[in-house]
Amino acid sequence: MKVLGINAIYHDPAAALVVDGRVVAAAEEERFSRRKHGKRPLPWSAWELPELSAAWCLREVGIRPEELDAVAYSFDPALMGTPEDSGLFDDGDTMRKRYAEMAPDFLAHALPGLDPAKVRFVKHHVAHAASAGKAAPQRDNAVLVLDGRGEAHSHLAGRYVDGQLEVLAGQALPHSLGLLYEELTDHLGFLRSSDEFKVMAMASYGKPRFLGELSELIRPTGDGGFVTERIDFTEFAPRLGKGDDWTEAHADLAASVQTRLEEVLVDLARWVYEQTGEKTLTMAGGVALNCVANTRILAETPFEEVWVQPAAGDAGTALGSALHVAHELGERTEPMPGAALGRGWGDDEIERWLQTAAIDYERPDDVAEAVAEVLADNGIVAWFQGRSEYGPRALGHRSLLAHPGFEANLERMNDVKGREQFRPVAPMVLLERAPEIFGRGPIPSPYMLFVHDVAEEWRDRIPTVTHVDGTARIQTIDPRTEPLVHRMIAAFERRTGLPVVVNTSLNTAGRPMVDDPRDALECFGSAPVDLLAIGPFVVRRPRPTPRP
Ligand SMILES: [Fe+2]
Repeated sequence: MKVLGINAIYHDPAAALVVDGRVVAAAEEERFSRRKHGKRPLPWSAWELPELSAAWCLREVGIRPEELDAVAYSFDPALMGTPEDSGLFDDGDTMRKRYAEMAPDFLAHALPGLDPAKVRFVKHHVAHAASAGKAAPQRDNAVLVLDGRGEAHSHLAGRYVDGQLEVLAGQALPHSLGLLYEELTDHLGFLRSSDEFKVMAMASYGKPRFLGELSELIRPTGDGGFVTERIDFTEFAPRLGKGDDWTEAHADLAASVQTRLEEVLVDLARWVYEQTGEKTLTMAGGVALNCVANTRILAETPFEEVWVQPAAGDAGTALGSALHVAHELGERTEPMPGAALGRGWGDDEIERWLQTAAIDYERPDDVAEAVAEVLADNGIVAWFQGRSEYGPRALGHRSLLAHPGFEANLERMNDVKGREQFRPVAPMVLLERAPEIFGRGPIPSPYMLFVHDVAEEWRDRIPTVTHVDGTARIQTIDPRTEPLVHRMIAAFERRTGLPVVVNTSLNTAGRPMVDDPRDALECFGSAPVDLLAIGPFVVRRPRPTPRP
């Protein structure tokens, strides 16, 4: 069976392909269209489809649209009421519903040969749930979807037993932890539905001194759901415009909402544990990208393991809806093999790109050693290896790498990327060395979805990646799944004594992550990067950039 999954309605359009129960390809549209997040999540863009990523998924395995058994669309317009029904009074919902209803015909147009009758609507939060509960390595699990909104809900609690979902609770709109966090993002002068992680970073600079008031306004209801009252954030700190300077009150507000969010999520997770007794909790939905909250859920609930879908935002519903429909069609689906589900190139193809660009390149004996050499000399490296990542994080395939031992490298990396200076950068660490350096969060942690405490004696040794509150959002590198990255970090450790490198996504300000070799060359050409390591080849900047 061949099932194509499509996410289009709100954020991060994406496509995924499941063949005979196995995930074979998944990618976000932004990586192809080079437009960050694919589109703005506005009502009149709801019709736009991930045409390029969908066509690529089919090409990747050499099938034509007419050969698909089903297309799964991660939103069911029949479940969406009027703007009044949801209590959100969002007039744009009428347009969204109409465009979703027309999606089968739009898809048949975008993928010539597809029979529109093969398109199935999947409830948005069932698609999110499947992206976690059916993609996780643990077949039986409890599942929590923590989202902004679906058709009429903002959350789902349930369990998967032998691949079958049982829904236990769902919070109806307008109550929504995701929308609440989006409102705060907007209030703090950031881009809503995009910059929520900046609020999480800002929270670590503040004190949760408004927690008392917020606990009244945001509260669990004891039955698996919760209440979010309308909050006038100006009562706590004045509204900020884009680029305005924030004050202590803003950081305290961010810290207060973040802390309350964590408390409510811990409560929701405890409830689903009590209902299911499962050992593993799986999570998806945009709120599940909140790695500080994820760490508290693991620490403060009886769950032994917490597995979060690396594409926890709406992009992941392309994968989830495809897995769900494959199951409906009688397929036994397999866990996702990892996050490297996007485009990849052979050595010959990469070399042709380099020859077309007419630049000097070399093929060193071992690209891992060549990269370690430059990093040890405090150079910045663009790292382009294997298939690109599905989801918002660079996980060692499209990364910008640096030495973690110099405090000035944080500013240097944020400058390269045009990011705010309060934003942390994250470490990659050899799996076997991680327990000695990073405490509290889970190890292994392959998808950067938890925070860890940096051991006291290591904080001065890796200041670039130690956040102001002494934490780091780590990615552990397992030699069995990421042998090349592991070899590169081990080579860096031999030179420096540090089994850690700085890893941030390979892109420049406002652009999606690099995906194909042309993007990599453009990024290398326009940013102060010393070395591009692309497949087995390296391209050196003729004059090294100044080292701080
Ligand atoms: Fe969603």
